[in-house]
Amino acid sequence: MAIAPASRSTSEIASGSANPALTTLILAVTGASGSIFAIEMLRALEADDRVGRVHLVISPSALRVFAEEAAVAGRNLLVEKLLGKASQKIVLLAHEDIGAPIASGSCPIDAMVVLPCSMGTLAGIAHGLAENLIERAADVCLKERRRLVLCVRETPLNLIHLRNMAAVTEAGATVYPVIPTFYNHPQSVEDIARNYVHRILQHIGLPQAGAYAWGSDEAPGT
Ligand SMILES: Cc1cc2nc3c(=O)[nH]c(=O)nc-3n(C[C@H](O)[C@H](O)[C@H](O)COP(=O)(O)O)c2cc1C
Repeated sequence: MAIAPASRSTSEIASGSANPALTTLILAVTGASGSIFAIEMLRALEADDRVGRVHLVISPSALRVFAEEAAVAGRNLLVEKLLGKASQKIVLLAHEDIGAPIASGSCPIDAMVVLPCSMGTLAGIAHGLAENLIERAADVCLKERRRLVLCVRETPLNLIHLRNMAAVTEAGATVYPVIPTFYNHPQSVEDIARNYVHRILQHIGLPQAGAYAWGSDEAPGT
């Protein structure tokens, strides 16, 4: 069930963005460490006028990690709590709702990002389990040959993790590990998360103004 602002109709939600010229994304958050990366991604998507709709799915384990790392508890008003304000375009969907629009290939989606992506969700996607909305939406992206970015986070990696990463790569996904960069001289944890988010957004065709680019004084996307 979509928790949507009252001004949005069901058909509008089902068809993605109110404006088809704008980008429609799925952001899935799973129970790996790195809540701050998901929060920075939400902030960037909320601020990006090229993005018209974000279907947000958060696993129960991700909620547990949010409580641990970001002191944000519960599903109630979660987007507002994470962003510090209400959003007109970020729609929170229930993890167990395999009848949500994004469970079908008929729902227009430009890209899906799983940030962070747990080894459990990686395994579910690699093996086509489709047991919850995140796994099903990812499965749909693969079958429709849409961009799917899995921001995996675990260390060290066992052979099962590595094989699952190979499997999703063979199926068409991009494995984009949550690994920070330091050559851009980050001054804070937020800087580290923001630079990583900029790289992901550039990867899916949304280069960000002010993003760090090695060897260039010019910020891409400006
Ligand atoms: C605080 C905390 C941190 C965790 N960090 C990771 C992690 O970095 N990577 C990972 O694969 N699992 C991690 N887990 C375990 C996952 O949450 C767990 O495997 C869960 O079943 C994943 O479910 P999901 O993929 O549906 O979110 C963590 C759990 C907790 C409570």
